[in-house]
Amino acid sequence: MLSDSSRHSELAPSPWVERFAPMIRPGGRVLDVACGAGRHARWLARLGFEVDAVDRDLSGFADPPPGVELREADLEGGPWPYPETRFDAIVVTNYLHRPLLPTLVGSLEPGGLLLYETFAAGNERFGKPSNPDFLLRPGELIEAVRGRLRVLAFEDLSVTTPRPACLQRIAARRE
Ligand SMILES: C[S@@+](CC[C@H](N)C(=O)[O-])C[C@H]1O[C@@H](n2cnc3c(N)ncnc32)[C@H](O)[C@@H]1O
Repeated sequence: MLSDSSRHSELAPSPWVERFAPMIRPGGRVLDVACGAGRHARWLARLGFEVDAVDRDLSGFADPPPGVELREADLEGGPWPYPETRFDAIVVTNYLHRPLLPTLVGSLEPGGLLLYETFAAGNERFGKPSNPDFLLRPGELIEAVRGRLRVLAFEDLSVTTPRPACLQRIAARRE
């Protein structure tokens, strides 16, 4: 259980990811997309998942724990690094590159979960990101999975912790 102070830290796992992680197949293979310093990859590995983590800059993730396989790749300028792999869950937080959305959906095993949370339209009033390229439009994550995944939960809201922001988030399962 996380204390209130660590829960509100930007280094702690997102409460959205924490909420749905128990629905991932135990011991399954999970991909952390644009993993940054690996807050989710590390936490998921501690839960016993086999974790792949990809980012174009892994300098902040120099010490991956057992159970985490790192891959340095440019997800916007290069080929998708996992063309042959299907995952039991894909986690994306605080990152948006719209052309990747169909690939993420198509990279789930049957029963696999997409857990996606990033900034949404309206966030510009709080600061960055404010570029519309990095802000989800209303309902955009629902549209991205429509007809392909079953939506378990969706939110489009403003939050105050760990800092004020407009977020959109979805948990959706491949049937
Ligand atoms: C705001 S950080 C989010 C990190 C992590 N998902 C989290 O929530 O803690 C955005 C991440 O996207 C990565 N990123 C940006 N453009 C990328 C690209 N073209 N290919 C791969 N990763 C990229 C950055 O290196 C950075 O680590």
